[in-house]
Amino acid sequence: MDIVIANESHIKYASVISETISESAKVRGTGIAKRTPEYIIKRLVNGNAVIALDGDRFAGFCYIEVWGHQKFVANSGLIVHPDYRNQGLAKKIKKAIFDLSRKKFPDAKIFGITTGLAVMKMNYELGYKPVTFSELTDDPEFWKGCQTCKNFDILTRTERKMCLCTGMLYDPASSALDKRKMNSTAFQRLKSIKEQLLLKKKKA
Ligand SMILES: CC(C)(COP(=O)(O)OP(=O)(O)OC[C@H]1O[C@@H](n2cnc3c(N)ncnc32)[C@H](O)[C@@H]1OP(=O)(O)O)[C@@H](O)C(=O)NCCC(=O)NCCS
Repeated sequence: MDIVIANESHIKYASVISETISESAKVRGTGIAKRTPEYIIKRLVNGNAVIALDGDRFAGFCYIEVWGHQKFVANSGLIVHPDYRNQGLAKKIKKAIFDLSRKKFPDAKIFGITTGLAVMKMNYELGYKPVTFSELTDDPEFWKGCQTCKNFDILTRTERKMCLCTGMLYDPASSALDKRKMNSTAFQRLKSIKEQLLLKKKKA
């Protein structure tokens, strides 16, 4: 398995990446924002993405986006093809995109929003902490990315204060990279409380 910084030679994988994201969103049921092949191509060629390949086969992908004049960067769009899951690949991709973010944007805070327990775990172990949305970027372009998520109405209804996703932030000024293990039960409980509160209201 090769995990490399993406470039023009990887444009041919844009469709399979886009389809894998859409299929995963359907299977998972919870929100994952859709990403068109055109959108993926832009990320493949700008030097801010990581792609995992098994020979010629697409295995995984993640990209960096820069917000608020480089004060923040997000590691977004993490996807591992179903054929390559549960083998530690997402963890390796996450570490690669985290290292690339630190190298290219050493002063930026790194953040992500996710409903996925696996992603929360990986972020936590990299030194991210859970934060309220007010501590993340207020760049409207970032939040526009949520428009294609099926929970976007919740985000709008709460005036961007909360949604089913949890915000997580790595602050280079304060995060120590000590070996940490997340308390998954606490995160699972938080997730189900949010679903009960926010989804119930949605149905009412
Ligand atoms: C989430 C996803 C990226 C995980 O990829 P993966 O390669 O199977 O993950 P890994 O094997 O590297 O596992 C990393 C950690 O997450 C855990 N994990 C993996 N899938 C999990 C799940 N569905 N629920 C809870 N934990 C999970 C693993 O046990 C591992 O933890 P450990 O180190 O404590 O053992 C993959 O399932 C995927 O692409 N899903 C669809 C897209 C998605 O949800 N993206 C995130 C959007 S925010």
